[in-house]
Amino acid sequence: MSEQDQEKAAKRAQWEEINRAKALAKQQQKDAAAAVATGGAVRPAETKKQFQAVKGTRDLLPPDTSLWNHVERTAHEVFGTFGFGEIRVPVLEPTDLFARAVGGDTDIVSKEMYTFEDHDFAHLERLRAQILGLEFDLVEAGNFGMFLTYIEKFTDGLRRGMEKKAIPLTLGNILAQKDLDDYLSRFENVTKGRPNETILRAPNFDADFTFVQQALSRVKFGEVISLRPEATASVCRAYIEHNLNQQPQPVKLYYTGPMFRRERPQKGRYRQFYQIGAEVLGGNEAPAIDAEVIEMVMTFFDKLELPGLELNINSIGHNAPDCRPKYVELLRTELHKVKDQLGPDSQRRIETNPLRVLDSKLESEQAIIATLPHIADHLCDACNTDYADVKNQLQLRGVIYHENWRLVRGLDYYMRTTFEITAKGLGSQNAVCGGGRYDGLVELLGGPQTKGIGFAIGEDRLILSLQDAGKVPAQRGRDIYIAWMGEHAYPEAVRIAKFLRTAGFSVELPPTEQKFGKALERAARLDSRYALILGDNEVSEGMFTLKTLADGSQEKFTGPDLLEFLKGHQ
Ligand code: HAM
Repeated sequence: MSEQDQEKAAKRAQWEEINRAKALAKQQQKDAAAAVATGGAVRPAETKKQFQAVKGTRDLLPPDTSLWNHVERTAHEVFGTFGFGEIRVPVLEPTDLFARAVGGDTDIVSKEMYTFEDHDFAHLERLRAQILGLEFDLVEAGNFGMFLTYIEKFTDGLRRGMEKKAIPLTLGNILAQKDLDDYLSRFENVTKGRPNETILRAPNFDADFTFVQQALSRVKFGEVISLRPEATASVCRAYIEHNLNQQPQPVKLYYTGPMFRRERPQKGRYRQFYQIGAEVLGGNEAPAIDAEVIEMVMTFFDKLELPGLELNINSIGHNAPDCRPKYVELLRTELHKVKDQLGPDSQRRIETNPLRVLDSKLESEQAIIATLPHIADHLCDACNTDYADVKNQLQLRGVIYHENWRLVRGLDYYMRTTFEITAKGLGSQNAVCGGGRYDGLVELLGGPQTKGIGFAIGEDRLILSLQDAGKVPAQRGRDIYIAWMGEHAYPEAVRIAKFLRTAGFSVELPPTEQKFGKALERAARLDSRYALILGDNEVSEGMFTLKTLADGSQEKFTGPDLLEFLKGHQ
């Protein structure tokens, strides 16, 4: 096939694909209309489809969720005793917040964020996709006219959106509109008053198309936002937005919730995962603050009886010529000497971020990395003193740590103290907590000069480690299963269920009558402690029969006596 034929065939295939997608969309619209017409009760057979959780996300179900709740309750308790208050920040934030805070070159920002443009201009976005996807067989006469019509429609929509300020008046948008207007004006004389079918493709179309493509791609219909990959940046944003610097300093905040990173899923690594984190913002940079934050997270783990913990600490200095940058240059020089023995990732990092080479898990690089200079030997005097003080403060608190000169962390905002905690039972993803100091981050985000330090615990990993160690709280079944029989018993059963629930007991009230044997069977399956038997006899006597399922014994009570007995046997 000639090149021209191949191009034609590819365009035809693209055209057919678009038609198929259109037909499917039409069918889906019809199906949706049918569902509305039938009140949603009867759905056409072809719309039936089973769904699964999106890759890297998962459902958390009982009884596991009771462990999650136990962990979160413990966090509320322990962090409260250290004077921390809870902050809840949105799941969506401007993408630029993370690009600035976490760093544009980090894996998190450059590869792993779920990002989209948030706007009301889906129709213009579709139109742009149609033009860019060349949904026209431009070889055919007439289609060039249509091509121009589409661009005109797009440009009109863009202009109107910007006039109403619904589309941001960015330089990119203004220039894009100007370029598209200019492009259209070149054909004004050719097209004016002529039907589309008669307009032939411009001779230098390919070069023109690149120009149009660039102009269209520049248009941003709305704010670019991301699902948060972490929450430190959000907490700093909130600190600035709500003038929290006016409150007594430092401000101590903690959070729990889902984070999103598009990583390769494996045990302990998910695309939606949960963090429990804390941040101290403002005040001074006393090493006691670093030590207390670390003491708090260790206290939390102790309270959960998480075994096999290892706390690694390091100082990565600060960004002044006589401190970290000087070490980074030294490291780069040393890395250049061994470049040939390193893998491609580390080779690339020699130029982009040599500190990250220290993070490498590649077996073949370990012996070489062991010979590299340590940052602790190259800190400026102030950072050196600070690091020594942090270690003293940890000792004062009885916190056991290991110094790990290779601990540099994968986010850009850190300075001085960095730390990571590993736990057992997690395989390669064994970091259960990471944190460090980030003085300067609030300023970077447009706020006042502010000190900052914090950490985030990977809750999913914490749960896995607790489960691995068998530290799972005993499951609680129902306290009472109400075995009611007969229509007179039901209203009484509803009343006693309400009464017992108000007193704090967990009560299962079957919605329909069951035979006695069946009721006891279900009570046992639900791991109930008692069956409360309520039949015609009990109703006429105003009594309740309480059966202890463990030994089969049973006793009759009045309502108040029943409550007293249950309270005395908790
Ligand atoms: P990070 O080291 O990126 O730090 O994450 C903290 C912890 O979150 C990790 O140690 C790990 O337990 C957990 N984690 C991270 N990614 C995943 C994943 N894909 N699946 C499961 N768990 C994961 C931060 O996020 C910083 N914001 C911590 C911080 C707070 N630094 C100062 N303040």
